Amino acid sequence: MKLEIAVLSGDGVGPVVTAQAIKVLEAIAHSFDHVFTFRDGLIGGVAIDKTGEALPKKTLELCADTDAILLGAVGALNYDQYDTVRPEDGLLQLRKALGLFANIRPVRAYEGLIEHAPLKKELIAGINIVIYRELASGIYFGKKAINDQGTIASDICEYTQEEIERIAHLAFRSAQQRKKHLTLVDKANILASSKLWRKVVLAMADQYPDVTVDCLFVDDAAMQLVLNPKAFDVILTDNMFGNIIADQVSVLSGSMGLLASASIGATCCLFEPMHGAFPEQGGNRIINPMASILSVAMLLAHFKLHKEAIAVQKAVEKALELHLTTADLSTKNPLTAEKVGDFIYDYILNPEDSNINFENIHVGQSTII
Ligand code: IPM
Ligand code: MN
Repeated sequence: MKLEIAVLSGDGVGPVVTAQAIKVLEAIAHSFDHVFTFRDGLIGGVAIDKTGEALPKKTLELCADTDAILLGAVGALNYDQYDTVRPEDGLLQLRKALGLFANIRPVRAYEGLIEHAPLKKELIAGINIVIYRELASGIYFGKKAINDQGTIASDICEYTQEEIERIAHLAFRSAQQRKKHLTLVDKANILASSKLWRKVVLAMADQYPDVTVDCLFVDDAAMQLVLNPKAFDVILTDNMFGNIIADQVSVLSGSMGLLASASIGATCCLFEPMHGAFPEQGGNRIINPMASILSVAMLLAHFKLHKEAIAVQKAVEKALELHLTTADLSTKNPLTAEKVGDFIYDYILNPEDSNINFENIHVGQSTII
């Protein structure tokens, strides 16, 4: 398969993790005989630095012209003001302009990482949740206002039936392939927009008779996700609730550094790690590239390259099994993001070769002899 991929590595740790993701795509192209080409674009703080805009027109044109987008992260300390253009604006504009309406965030417990998880082991083992967050509407994009005195402000949360249906269909279909359990998270006891979500989603349930649908208020869902996260399968929710719930769910697995996401629209798709730019970390590079690498697995699966996606997942699992990880996961002998990337690259090219030279890994040479 030929794929042209827009690479928006962005700010902070974005370029480091994205470079590892590209390395992994190159290994897949080599092993499975595909042709992937990469075209760079600016977004976020680096784009503001160079052009004054968080999403330059050129980047938008590039994204509309390629098959998929690989994004690193946006966010920079020097743009941490609330009254001027911010790096995050670039991401929001991109989502809106490309109609990326479904944000899909899978979270599962990895054996071996459970000790890093904040909850008791028995609550964590076996977690397998996917969040379908609406991404192109709701309070993020509703009318915003502030009065002349600067003392009263408002944000409108508006949804149409069509906006709810298009993401709900994806969530129902995903549930059909999984444990057939969909939980709608809303605040239908209070919000008009949530009442519409509930009405629309429950009306659609007849089309998916094999899927059990539950509805939970977001406050209750926040509690249940801590008390019994294993009870969840597919979570469907709006833009703001999805943003909050996704961060909560993401730490359940033991590391946010492993969590990938896909944002899907009618004609475009974007893949990025769930974590942000982490500009505070400076140049010490303890950042884990696995989330970005697993975003590549989601990209491959999106194009029905399932064997390839599994090869990436297996390589990441192997690195975890061998404790070839960055400092967030391993206190003894942590590796840099580049070395973790090198190992995963080599493993994809030589999965049968179990003769791994640990000494070489630590001096940054070929990992497999
Ligand atoms: C996310 C992020 C973004 C959001 C920010 C960076 C604008 O937190 O993708 O979850 O709030 O949607
Ligand atoms: Mn978020």
